Amino acid sequence: MLSNIRLYDARPDDAADLLRVHRAAIRSTAAGFYSPEIIAAWAPLPIPPEHVDALALRLDNGIEEAVVARAKGAGVVGFGSFVPGRRELRAVYVHPDYGRRGIGAAMLAALERRARKYGLRELVMDASLNAEAFYHRHGFVTENTGEHVLPGGLRMACIRMRKPLAAS
Ligand SMILES: CC(C)(COP(=O)(O)OP(=O)(O)OC[C@H]1O[C@@H](n2cnc3c(N)ncnc32)[C@H](O)[C@@H]1OP(=O)(O)O)[C@@H](O)C(=O)NCCC(=O)NCCS
Repeated sequence: MLSNIRLYDARPDDAADLLRVHRAAIRSTAAGFYSPEIIAAWAPLPIPPEHVDALALRLDNGIEEAVVARAKGAGVVGFGSFVPGRRELRAVYVHPDYGRRGIGAAMLAALERRARKYGLRELVMDASLNAEAFYHRHGFVTENTGEHVLPGGLRMACIRMRKPLAAS
């Protein structure tokens, strides 16, 4: 990973920056895999304030835990999160200007370390089609294909994946 990138635990007041990376990553990296309607529903712009508030609340009450990647002079360039109570890896997103430099892999490793501290023995997730190769590369196995229902009711294809976690 780049020497000017550092990983931190995300705080509730990082929520707006996290969602800016979320939008940029989806609208660039995932755009070739889904229809414009799906991309717009998955990554709506402008970012609704209630999305920021909801993420901040989930981070604040610990329902969702996130790591954030910051680049010197550029702020937040990536984040990843998981939901301990569901054993669910929720997201890994990297700003397209910082892709393929190992940031996603480093954040995933940090989330897995944290999941092990919770005593979790596996992580499950609904991966987007564009990200399946990334997760395969990092030990996730494909269970089956599925659909994720977006706010508003549109259905996006996804890949159900899981990864056993070795005991720490
Ligand atoms: C998926 C994502 C998080 C990967 O982040 P990243 O920082 O670019 O990934 P890394 O640099 O750590 O990649 C590590 C390895 O994973 C694999 N990989 C990553 N992206 C890949 C891609 N698009 N296609 C194939 N393999 C990929 C490669 O083996 C890569 O190693 P290499 O670059 O030496 O070949 C990023 O592309 C992204 O944010 N995508 C859009 C958002 C999204 O859909 N996230 C997943 C939601 S479930």
